[in-house]
Amino acid sequence: MKTRITEMLGIKHPIVQGGMHFVGFAEMAAAVSNAGGLGIITALTQRTPADLANEIARCRDMTDKPIGVNLTFLPSVNQPDYPGYVKAIIEGGVKVVETAGNNPVQVLPVLKDNGIKVVHKCTAVRHALKAQKIGCDAVSVDGFECGGHPGEDDVPNFILLPRAMDELEIPFIASGGMADGRSLVAAMALGAEGMNMGTRFIATKEAPVHENVKQALVAASELDTRLVMRPLRNTERVLTNPAVERLLQKEKELGSNIKFEDIIEEVAGVYPKIMLDGQMDAGAWSCGMVAGLIYDIPTCKELIDRIMAEAEEIITKRLAGFVKG
Ligand SMILES: Cc1cc2nc3c(=O)[nH]c(=O)nc-3n(C[C@H](O)[C@H](O)[C@H](O)COP(=O)(O)O)c2cc1C
Repeated sequence: MKTRITEMLGIKHPIVQGGMHFVGFAEMAAAVSNAGGLGIITALTQRTPADLANEIARCRDMTDKPIGVNLTFLPSVNQPDYPGYVKAIIEGGVKVVETAGNNPVQVLPVLKDNGIKVVHKCTAVRHALKAQKIGCDAVSVDGFECGGHPGEDDVPNFILLPRAMDELEIPFIASGGMADGRSLVAAMALGAEGMNMGTRFIATKEAPVHENVKQALVAASELDTRLVMRPLRNTERVLTNPAVERLLQKEKELGSNIKFEDIIEEVAGVYPKIMLDGQMDAGAWSCGMVAGLIYDIPTCKELIDRIMAEAEEIITKRLAGFVKG
């Protein structure tokens, strides 16, 4: 499949692996890129810009295909060294950056000056339009289904994607709830020129996370995610577990008086415990409703090849059959 996204990012298949905290290490990104998609390293999982530079170099040793880096701007007490991370990205020869969380205007000029394509991930058409206006090359449009931060508008992809198509001139990638060939064809029908997957890529052989995480995704259904931190206007879709239910109980009891400090035990510093140590009840971790469509743990190449074969079959046989009558 050739789309404006495959051309822009220099990839074979229109499939991107979204940045994921404590998942987007070199091994993950290299496996997706070697399979013909775009693998993305998550900058803020690396403690310092020097660590990011090292991670990019490790990834380069594992693939000669294009790779990307995710730069997330989220509310945080101690602001990360963004200029340092940007320098590591540029010096590492990375050609694609996925920005998320907030308007990337502060890093855009330097990235563009260095020939880097910027794909801004956002959850609302108005934010996508803003990204287009400030000069982003493409956007990822992340629907309400998505794992991680779906924003506060709650618009699912069946509405959000065609709305994006109606408004945008730059190409866009569909994100949130994508799992298979059906997702890809549907996303393309709704106007996207590629798809971004987070949760689905965690349940792959190469994902550098504990086996417990992968098994939790296979076991989970589409009913098993919860929205936390809505009262703080920092909504996150996570897989339920006792810590998440405790967090929701606190939200119910404290109402609008809730502060970040009240839930710190359930959300702060939990990713290494879950992703690396497999302590599945350690706290809240991002997971999409798409968990309900995850039945196995293939390699990234098996997954991507399967998606592309299924998409082609749907387009050329199932859908073509309908119009032939
Ligand atoms: C475990 C996990 C961690 C994530 N961490 C980040 C992150 O640090 N930055 C970011 O921009 N998006 C993050 N995301 C969101 C993904 O990049 C992607 O947008 C989302 O997973 C798409 O929805 P899906 O899970 O339904 O595929 C994360 C998602 C998951 C599942």
